Amino acid sequence: MCHAEKLLISRRDQISPMHTHVIKAEDIINRGGATLEIQFYGSDVDGKFDETAGGPVYCDGLRRCFAPGGGLRLAPGESVTLMPGDWHAFWGDGGEVLTGEVSTVNDDDPDNTFRDPIGRFSEIEEGEAPTHLLVSDCRSWLG
Ligand SMILES: [Fe+2]
Repeated sequence: MCHAEKLLISRRDQISPMHTHVIKAEDIINRGGATLEIQFYGSDVDGKFDETAGGPVYCDGLRRCFAPGGGLRLAPGESVTLMPGDWHAFWGDGGEVLTGEVSTVNDDDPDNTFRDPIGRFSEIEEGEAPTHLLVSDCRSWLG
């Protein structure tokens, strides 16, 4: 397989934090609900976050240029194509959005690069062993 697909529920103002990908190209698609707001930045020559960089993206196949920190508002049915090095964050605006992602296959663990250090989940004190492990949990639980 050369592509993958996932669905996310982007709740109102729930931010998927600013990140980019090393190899993954992805289409982010508003599959329904409210407006999906996406903010963009470009990369520097080393691929690192650059608050002064903008760049082009393709929105439903049409090239659109964005200023650093600029964004798009995707209505249901609209999409944007993001390439490696396109830094992006998104959230539901005015309500929940069913967000689709169609992308190249990748391993999210090394491929997701976040601007700010974040954990996979908020720090919690576990009271029970997990029923199902995520790929990123295997190393800590199984060694
Ligand atoms: Fe992404």
